[in-house]
Amino acid sequence: MSVECFVTGGSGFVGQHLLAHLTAAGHKTWVLMRNPENIKRLREQVGHLGGDPAYVHAVEGDISREGLGLSEAATQCLASVSVVFHLAAQFSWGLTMDAARAVNVQGALRVARLAASQRIRLLMVGGFMLQNLSHLANIGVDHECPENTDWPAVYSRVGGYEGSKLESHFAVIRYMQEANADYTIVHPATVCGHSESGHILEGQPLAELIRNLAQGRFKAVPGSARHWLPLVSVDYLVTMITCVAFDPSMANRQVLALYDGTPNLPGMLEQMATTLQVKAPRRYVAMRLLRWLLMIPGLASRLGISAESLDFIQTQRFDMSASKQLERKYQFAHPDMTRTLEMTVRYVKGYLRD
Ligand SMILES: NC(=O)c1ccc[n+]([C@@H]2O[C@H](COP(=O)([O-])OP(=O)(O)OC[C@H]3O[C@@H](n4cnc5c(N)ncnc54)[C@H](OP(=O)(O)O)[C@@H]3O)[C@@H](O)[C@H]2O)c1
Repeated sequence: MSVECFVTGGSGFVGQHLLAHLTAAGHKTWVLMRNPENIKRLREQVGHLGGDPAYVHAVEGDISREGLGLSEAATQCLASVSVVFHLAAQFSWGLTMDAARAVNVQGALRVARLAASQRIRLLMVGGFMLQNLSHLANIGVDHECPENTDWPAVYSRVGGYEGSKLESHFAVIRYMQEANADYTIVHPATVCGHSESGHILEGQPLAELIRNLAQGRFKAVPGSARHWLPLVSVDYLVTMITCVAFDPSMANRQVLALYDGTPNLPGMLEQMATTLQVKAPRRYVAMRLLRWLLMIPGLASRLGISAESLDFIQTQRFDMSASKQLERKYQFAHPDMTRTLEMTVRYVKGYLRD
């Protein structure tokens, strides 16, 4: 059965693939766009990614504005929507707390308000670090009583992006519970390219890591042989998002989208280096030392690494039972991730040449 969907962040990397997936299934999508004049380009891209461009419609708006900046007519269009997919985020390192909060926390609350006011499911995309409870405790997040968290202290520890993603998660859940409204949250690992084409947008964290390796800026492996950067392919991720968004049993639940067979960081770098035909780093640099080195003016930009990105490289393993249950229920699986990573590296290599 086809339904209507409202999507924020539809022009982003995950958003483009989600639009392709939803429209290929015949769902009409309303996409919140800060620049609706880009709709033609977005439709073309959705078509390239296997979706149906005719089902993609722009709604002008901005989540950092009151009421998402929606016109009366746009609000009317949303009356027939069944699910709100919230993917929009200010996604970069070095954001100030105020800038990150304005979009990632206040913006997410505005989207939640819209979904709750229309009595429709909110599907929100979080991040896998929200399932790493020891990390949350280490950085001062009280996940059982989030209102006891000293958020400015958390932001100064982990930076604007991660701080705001963590804060918005708890703020949205609290809001939806108080409004007695439905939500479902998917927490992706670092997103890898598409398993068939390797498609990934420039600027994505994994694409930047590949670029650094290709350009010989990766001198040592951060952490130890036990550290890893969990990955998920963008196609697995959008399949999971779509399955849970329409599943009544997933109301008020959260699930991880993460490939737990992702090799540890040295193995992953070795695999990427082989495809790039460059040397993989062999030595290790302790996280604490690397963080200290990155405080030396100019070094972070010379190495192309931000201290904020190091938080995502961890030794923690995750309980994947809920995700595996969904895979069985909906008959989907992770693609061959060795090949997916290879395709992604080849895709990035393509635009490094251009
Ligand atoms: N990619 C990953 O590795 C990863 C991992 C874990 C979680 N996530 C989460 O997954 C979600 C999607 O990530 P992504 O990689 O697809 O991000 P992305 O490529 O950076 O796209 C961000 C999207 O947000 C939109 N946006 C930013 N500010 C906005 C505003 N004020 N109002 C309306 N739209 C705004 C952008 O629109 P414009 O075109 O107007 O800029 C764009 O469509 C995010 O919530 C991110 O935190 C991503």
